Amino acid sequence: MRLAWKPGRGAVPSMGWQRRGGGGILTMPVPQEWRGTSMQVCGLWPFSIGSGTPMVGVPFGRHLLTGSTVCFDPISWFKRAHLIANPSAFFMGLPGLGKSSAVRHLIMGLAAVGVHSMVLGDLKPDYVDLVRVLGGQVIEVGRGRGRINPLDSGAWPASAGDLPRKLRKELREDAHGRRLTMLSSLVHLARNAPPTDREEAILDRALLVLGKRLERTPVIGDVLDVVRQAPDNVREVAIDRGSLDRYRDITEGLEATLAGMLSGRFGDVFSGQTTTPMDLDRPVVFDVSSINENDKALEAAVLMCCWSYGFGQINAANALADAGLVARRHYLVVMDEIWRALRAGHGMVDRFDAITRLNRATGTGQVMITHTMKDLESLASEEDRAKARGFIERAGAVVCGGLPGTEMTALTKAVTLSRVEQDMLTGWQDPPTWDSTTGEEGDPPGLGKFLIKVGGRPGIPVKVTLTPSELDVNDTNKRWQA
Ligand SMILES: Nc1ncnc2c1ncn2[C@@H]1O[C@H](COP(=O)(O)OP(=O)(O)O)[C@@H](O)[C@H]1O
Ligand SMILES: [Mg+2]
Repeated sequence: MRLAWKPGRGAVPSMGWQRRGGGGILTMPVPQEWRGTSMQVCGLWPFSIGSGTPMVGVPFGRHLLTGSTVCFDPISWFKRAHLIANPSAFFMGLPGLGKSSAVRHLIMGLAAVGVHSMVLGDLKPDYVDLVRVLGGQVIEVGRGRGRINPLDSGAWPASAGDLPRKLRKELREDAHGRRLTMLSSLVHLARNAPPTDREEAILDRALLVLGKRLERTPVIGDVLDVVRQAPDNVREVAIDRGSLDRYRDITEGLEATLAGMLSGRFGDVFSGQTTTPMDLDRPVVFDVSSINENDKALEAAVLMCCWSYGFGQINAANALADAGLVARRHYLVVMDEIWRALRAGHGMVDRFDAITRLNRATGTGQVMITHTMKDLESLASEEDRAKARGFIERAGAVVCGGLPGTEMTALTKAVTLSRVEQDMLTGWQDPPTWDSTTGEEGDPPGLGKFLIKVGGRPGIPVKVTLTPSELDVNDTNKRWQA
């Protein structure tokens, strides 16, 4: 609440009142502002005003222009406030400006209302400490650290008992689809070229054979065995025209790729059942930080596996909850640095889309994080680029941090941004100033600043404020300080 001086009779001259106790004043003192719920504040102070932004969801930060509290999280904005069309948010902005920190802030806020977060692939690690503090599960995946079975998806808890036939069929088909997508993606990443139609058909049939043969979840070794055993229905789609020699020639490449996945390029990461199964009763993070940044194929493969595994589990849990067999849980799925997998090869965007689809999305929020449009625009084909733009267009909310001016042409194709909003974003990417007293760089001007965009509505500029305890678990520059 500010008191403005009304000019008119008795207006203060520029040098103040020339009398005892008067004089010039250089700065106008700003009265202290307080904020509280209308329940409490109305009894204390009559001059209360409402907030221009929705007060539903995790307290995210302060409005940069009005200073009012901004609450935001994709689940509450979708479910309670009906502000967005689906419970998802797409974060983008230059590295180091606080995207991961803002998402950690969301994870913590949502944990307070019983939403479990699943961080499906943490490359830094950015989320491990937070998930530990929240009492969650940290699953390590990497060479010699822990395996993840790419065919592991859609398992349902034994506590669910006997499933109705329709539901069982639905879940089995979902798991089959995910497995096939995962296998094709791995073949693609292992040989840097997509599998042929014929090879995809062979993999599809091999998985069907395994589905009938095995009680347990199949592993890649099982698929390789089936391909080598050449059962009739696999030979049928291999079109070997009745000649086993021809079949061997046709499957030779696929056999080599599958065998190579178990030891070669990918180490032991995909060589067996998942070492630590995911627990759906608490927050989870897949710590994949041991994978070398230059090991691009493995990095992309592991990220895809974590996404497929996590989404499969959540899909099964949602289906069971819909059928009333288990209690409903809300989840927030976090996918950080998605560009690393999308850029791994032509067609990855499609596979990403297939893997991260939920048949029953009820109550599952999704957060995707990437750096810049350039990452997406550098995809190999126009088709992939258009599809990647589609992720942004379809996201319930787009949250933009500081971005270079060169991004705006591409960004405005996917998000409507006014001139002022564009200037705001480019202003936030300015480098930090040098503090000559401390001899250190200050914080970059855009640190923690984001513009929340929902469709064509004006964006909400917000500064994410982290509490000291959050900053403690949030410090991503730990290695340097140590
Ligand atoms: N709102 C904020 N206030 C203060 N420090 C922050 C804020 N957001 C991020 N940081 C700090 O900035 C650094 C980089 O943040 P990070 O979230 O990793 O960026 P990004 O994910 O965009 O690369 C971290 O050390 C973090 O502690
Ligand atoms: Mg980050």
